Amino acid sequence: MIPVSEPQLVGRELAYVEECIRTGWVSSAGRFIGAFESSWAEYCGRAHGIAVANGTVALQLAVAALELEPGAEVIIPTFTIISCAMAVVYAGGIPVLIDADPDTWTMDVGQVAGKITSRTRAIMPVHIYGHPVDMDPLLDLAERHGLAVIEDAAEAHGTQYQTGRGTDPGWRRCGSFGALSCFSFYANKLVTTGEGGMVLTDDPRLAERARMLRNLAFTPERRFLHQELGFNFRMTNIQAAIGLGQVERIDATVERKREIGRRYTENLRGLAGVRLPVEKSWARSVWWMFGIVLDDATGLEASQLATRLTKRGVETRPFFLGMHDQPALQRRGWFAGESYPVADRLAKQGLYLPSGVGLTDEQVDEVCAALRACLA
Ligand SMILES: Cc1ncc(COP(=O)(O)O)c(C=O)c1O
Repeated sequence: MIPVSEPQLVGRELAYVEECIRTGWVSSAGRFIGAFESSWAEYCGRAHGIAVANGTVALQLAVAALELEPGAEVIIPTFTIISCAMAVVYAGGIPVLIDADPDTWTMDVGQVAGKITSRTRAIMPVHIYGHPVDMDPLLDLAERHGLAVIEDAAEAHGTQYQTGRGTDPGWRRCGSFGALSCFSFYANKLVTTGEGGMVLTDDPRLAERARMLRNLAFTPERRFLHQELGFNFRMTNIQAAIGLGQVERIDATVERKREIGRRYTENLRGLAGVRLPVEKSWARSVWWMFGIVLDDATGLEASQLATRLTKRGVETRPFFLGMHDQPALQRRGWFAGESYPVADRLAKQGLYLPSGVGLTDEQVDEVCAALRACLA
């Protein structure tokens, strides 16, 4: 079976983990935490990094750092992982949804203005499957309305976006935009720590607040005195040791991921019934996961294609199911009567193919041959 993704731990990860064990620095203190935080922040072009236990709590910490009032609205894409909505709800806010763009599958930026109300406080763009959101119009809009932007770059390690804004226009890495940005380092990400995440920011006040909240909201003046309720979202030195080894190889990882994306695209171009991921002129995708969307004319749904591909030794995963379709959120009385046709279509007709960085050219070609055979 060709797996959807497998981690590649082939650099100095083992030596660094060995050091943790040899020296006894196995908790959330130790040299690798700071080293990993600063190396990832620097790679993404940010001043501060706050390492946490996973990407879900990175989002939770970022939203908590904003100190929203109860009932504040945060605009998120419907086509994303539940972690985005959870972060808003746990902070006492209300998620307001945007449908997906049919080309990039990221939030349709043109629909955001229509969802801004007097209660809106923040926007959470999510770069989907390695392709960036069109950030410039979104950042302009956020600035005009005084809204915070929390960038979810969990799936976009090394992805670049060409910005025309500010004093330094040009290509910038995802994770460098907005007030705060969040990453996941789960085992299927380009940089993994097994489980792990990070919040990045350029704002020293937000960084200090996120650090304080990450660690039970201890106060510097008197340990065990708490002015507010925080979280234990700490990352261990062992996780950070793996992460540092991974960051040291990020350029090669991104390059190989882009090669895999290009090979799939060239091989599958023109295949009837299949819509391939795009790369907009302002984007350098890492094709974190190489998704495909079936045309209705194939008469097949993605789940049926997945079954066929499994029989041919190819593992796949379904696309996200929209937040508007989640009983856990609908039960709160949200999204009634709203419609998100693009996300609905993606959920029904989309899946992603094996995309791990360890995939060989031969395996990519094998997957493409299996896909053609399944659709013949
Ligand atoms: C867009 C996005 N945000 C957040 C997360 C949550 O990250 P984690 O699985 O590390 O909690 C994921 C998970 O893959 C994700 O894809």
